[in-house]
Amino acid sequence: MGWWERTVVPKLVDASLRGHEIGELRGEVCAPLSGRVLELGFGSGLNIRWYPDTVEQIHAVEPSDGGWEMSQRRRNRSSVPIVRSGLDGQDLAEADASFDAVLCTFSLCTIPDPARALAESIRVLKPGGTFAFLEHGLAPEAATVRRQRRWEPIQRRVGGGCHLTRDVEALISDSGLAMNSLTKEYLPGPKLAHPWLFSYRGSAVRVAAD
Ligand SMILES: C[S@@+](CC[C@H](N)C(=O)[O-])C[C@H]1O[C@@H](n2cnc3c(N)ncnc32)[C@H](O)[C@@H]1O
Repeated sequence: MGWWERTVVPKLVDASLRGHEIGELRGEVCAPLSGRVLELGFGSGLNIRWYPDTVEQIHAVEPSDGGWEMSQRRRNRSSVPIVRSGLDGQDLAEADASFDAVLCTFSLCTIPDPARALAESIRVLKPGGTFAFLEHGLAPEAATVRRQRRWEPIQRRVGGGCHLTRDVEALISDSGLAMNSLTKEYLPGPKLAHPWLFSYRGSAVRVAAD
């Protein structure tokens, strides 16, 4: 990881994703969580204030030391114990069926192989466990998709590998998780920013084995 990714990207991400309106959506996605939770792409810890009391432990998976260090003050204030349990959501160290939930916010856009991260999430979820998500990705209108495609190479370079055109609904459905709830809408912001603002939030469930 180069200097830009280590020092600048975590600050850019924190500044662009810590707003009040996104915070409310984080709260909605985190509210049903309980028990042992694995958070994929922990970043600077912007979800910490939204963990409900029913969460017993967070296992944070985050490759960026810069992001992890930025999260320290938020972690110190957390009533939920948080351990950094790994660096790569595509290759988790955790045991099979050991988590009640996986939380993933604005990370499927950046993880190099999101399908592999979803397969790993399913592996570590208990049958019936929840995959809770708040993501941005592929917009519904062709004109916005064209703009997303034009901006994506720049976004990837500036944003630490962040993609604009990932179809989050298809990724989750194709993974084998059963979609439980899904809201697709633009996050608040000007139309000019629509390539960055189409969001997917909700939850999906690891189907119990027969
Ligand atoms: C846009 S940031 C979102 C951070 C945080 N989840 C949030 O909602 O503010 C994407 C995060 O994914 C992390 N990431 C990148 N590759 C990853 C991987 N292979 N496994 C897990 N996380 C990864 C990045 O380091 C970064 O913290």
